[in-house]
Amino acid sequence: MEKFRFLTSGESHGPSLTAIIEGVPSGLNIDIDFINNELKRRQQGYGRGNRMQIETDKIEITSGVRFGKTIGSPITLVIKNKDFENWQKIMSSAPEDITDEKTFSVYRPGHADFAGSIKYNQKDLRNILERASARKTAIEVAVGAVAKLVLKQLGIEGSSEVTQIGCACSPEKFHEEIDLTKEKGDSVGGKFTVVYKNIPIGLGSHVHWDRGIDGRIAQAIMSIPAIKAVEIGTNPLGIYGSNYHDEFVKNNEGEINRQSNHAGGIEGGITNGQDLVVSAVMKPIPTIMKPLKSIDSKTGQQAQAHYERSDVCAVESCAVVAESRVAWVLVNEVLLKFGGDSLEELLKNMSKNL
Ligand SMILES: Cc1cc2nc3c(=O)[nH]c(=O)nc-3n(C[C@H](O)[C@H](O)[C@H](O)COP(=O)(O)O)c2cc1C
Repeated sequence: MEKFRFLTSGESHGPSLTAIIEGVPSGLNIDIDFINNELKRRQQGYGRGNRMQIETDKIEITSGVRFGKTIGSPITLVIKNKDFENWQKIMSSAPEDITDEKTFSVYRPGHADFAGSIKYNQKDLRNILERASARKTAIEVAVGAVAKLVLKQLGIEGSSEVTQIGCACSPEKFHEEIDLTKEKGDSVGGKFTVVYKNIPIGLGSHVHWDRGIDGRIAQAIMSIPAIKAVEIGTNPLGIYGSNYHDEFVKNNEGEINRQSNHAGGIEGGITNGQDLVVSAVMKPIPTIMKPLKSIDSKTGQQAQAHYERSDVCAVESCAVVAESRVAWVLVNEVLLKFGGDSLEELLKNMSKNL
């Protein structure tokens, strides 16, 4: 059974996004400013669209926290969608409000519209867009922020860095690449790396396919909208084994040491005490001003894909989302290995084991 688990709900233009998290140890200080700052980090980044100017995400906590500390019960997090003001009728749950406004029927290539509308038998593709949208990553980042607060108490901290935008591999070129893309009415993807330091040895396991922490991290990151590849450590293509594998040596104190970290901190599905290094590739944003060929599901005729206000590039934000996802995988693994219903108990268990 997983120890840190949650569900989220909410549509992109609905009233709010919600998460209910179970498994956060009691006695954890909940730093609201930290959570809001994480939400802000997700909203920033060069190349994002106007939606980010409408929303300034702020977290509300409606359960599980009293006087600033967790009490062991499920934590409910809520983010209100400011844009809902303009969508109240369109996103209403009341049958009498039914309207054709903002419905659309032309599939957007690269989105869930086509497969999702067939799967859920929906004629209005908005019913798919609203939940498939990456807006839901806001509440996921809030969940990740709570996980990061647990990790901080254990001395584990993470960060991320964009390493490529389109063909540009140096940070000085990133804005230029995004500007050029915007001028062309196009979109662009890229690559980023997430690093977590001070990871205990022994998270994850080699004993079953679904226990490996590499697999769990890969799933958590691969399922971020628009992620198409995940790498742990150094991409090994073209590197000989003798150069790739991290040799063991002893340091001056006689302790076991490694001279490199191509494995990215995981061997055999288990953390090995080195920094955890995960990279991922994001595809170009699929909603673009340049019209893409599509089909109108109502008429069956050839048509141009629907355009709705959109980001040109969201790689920086995506890196923040990925940091959050790694955080929740790590907290779950820490709780599986060390256990503890209160923060005190978890810290005690960890110090006994390490
Ligand atoms: C932070 C973030 C922001 C995104 N912004 C947009 C956007 O503005 N427009 C868009 O078409 N897709 C955007 N996407 C990507 C789509 O949500 C995604 O490509 C789509 O849901 C289909 O999922 P798939 O690419 O994983 O198949 C964004 C993704 C992330 C992670």
